[in-house]
Amino acid sequence: MRSKIVAGNWKMNKNLSETEALLTELSAKLPDTQAEVMVAPTYINLTAAVRNLEASTIEVISQNMHFAENGAYTGEISADMLLSVGINTAIIGHSERRAYFGETDEILAKKVKTALAKNIRVMFCFGEELEDRKSDNHFNVVESQLKNALFDLDASAWKNIILAYEPVWAIGTGETASPEQAQEMHAFIRKTITEAYDATIANNVSILYGGSVKPGNAVEIFSKPDVDGGLIGGAALVADDFIAIIKAI
Ligand code: 13P
Repeated sequence: MRSKIVAGNWKMNKNLSETEALLTELSAKLPDTQAEVMVAPTYINLTAAVRNLEASTIEVISQNMHFAENGAYTGEISADMLLSVGINTAIIGHSERRAYFGETDEILAKKVKTALAKNIRVMFCFGEELEDRKSDNHFNVVESQLKNALFDLDASAWKNIILAYEPVWAIGTGETASPEQAQEMHAFIRKTITEAYDATIANNVSILYGGSVKPGNAVEIFSKPDVDGGLIGGAALVADDFIAIIKAI
């Protein structure tokens, strides 16, 4: 069901004590909100994070997972491992995974299937690179990313999918898509899902925007009708900034 979501992707930041400190501050300062609030610390601190947030409504999610059930995949983490420490949502397809770790649409499609089969909710990330936008190819790129990884799923799978549109040129660069650019793409995404499935599925999926969301621009971006929240990188590492972004929704 479509809901407002603010999620913090901590990437490869925060050791154990820093994780504890940030989570403690976040739960102390968390405002009353209808939005779902999520944090994605590094794998190694997920257990500590779940324990730290036992009494909080903040959900701990993972930044990634492997597509195989188990086996000889040195260094990887399976769906069952995540479930066993209390993780029920996984980010899949982040552009840094695609760019630095060779995760293709085909690999991501397998990850999505495994996660959903295990009842793990998927926060699927996608978005165009700067050259795609400059060459006016951004809609095609986004459409094919969605199609290749998601469009052979059964309609019933969509209730466990959250989308996060993250234009690569706006990630960690301080350059944000304008609220109009975000709205334009989010509306396009809903249209594409309507064509592949139907309007009900398209209207029920939450679509987050990610890419240099800060306290100063969050209100305007979140005010757009097809933007259901944000996936936050840098600003999620500072409690007061993340709290301000939650308040913005
Ligand atoms: P920034 O907010 O640092 O641009 O990162 C966005 C992001 O990649 C979240 O997944």
